[in-house]
Amino acid sequence: EFIKDVKGIKVLEQQLKDKLNLDHVVVVPGDSDELEWVKQDMGKACVQYLKERILPDQAIAITGGTTMAAVAEMMTPFNSAGKCLFVPARGGLGERVENQANTICAEMAKKARGDYRMLYVPDPLSEESYHTIIEEPSIKEVLNIIRNAEIVIHGVGDAITMAERRKTSPEQMEVIKRNEAVGEAFGYYFNTKGEIVHKVRTVGLQLEDLKHAKDVIAVAGGRSKAQAIASYFQPGQSNVLITDEGAAEELIKGF
Ligand code: F6P
Repeated sequence: EFIKDVKGIKVLEQQLKDKLNLDHVVVVPGDSDELEWVKQDMGKACVQYLKERILPDQAIAITGGTTMAAVAEMMTPFNSAGKCLFVPARGGLGERVENQANTICAEMAKKARGDYRMLYVPDPLSEESYHTIIEEPSIKEVLNIIRNAEIVIHGVGDAITMAERRKTSPEQMEVIKRNEAVGEAFGYYFNTKGEIVHKVRTVGLQLEDLKHAKDVIAVAGGRSKAQAIASYFQPGQSNVLITDEGAAEELIKGF
């Protein structure tokens, strides 16, 4: 029975790798919509992959959310001699403090015995403050590290769930719904074709910066997130996916 399960998982990983055109896929057993520990297993798989890929003195940009918080929870010290540097990919994006990139970043660095830098910016930002803030020398320096990070690790969410969780304004909510957004990552909202229909204005990593990274790792699972994951991967912005069986089965079925 166990061997059969392992085989099934391997098949799912290969199918997803082909379907989404990725370099690496990890599928952990179970469905994180139903069982909380499945999220921790994705976290563990992410830490393991990160350790294989990270080199001394590299920078890792991370986003927020409960899945990324699970990655931080499972983090253990790196063996590499040099210190790696953790930075938040973008601003807080309206998340609760414990799920904000800054908080998760500090926890990951502590557990990996690395360093971290924070990004102190309010968000969303007005057009006017945006231009002033990105010219601040201290912010500029951190932004430079973020935009050149060798490794990026991020969550993916369902568009409406995320818009509600962020207490999005009624006007923006209307744009998100009218344009039928289904997925969200990095503060960008995508429709089923993978087109960007809305973007939260804040400083930090922009989608086009992902090209420079060696690895862009999406960590997202749960059957309910399958459509969101599919929409995000339409343009193929990340090369690695760490997910669970629930999302993987649903992804293989359709979209
Ligand atoms: O808000 C940060 C973020 O990474 C989003 O980009 C993403 O949609 C969400 O968190 C995922 O959150 P969770 O892991 O809690 O579903």
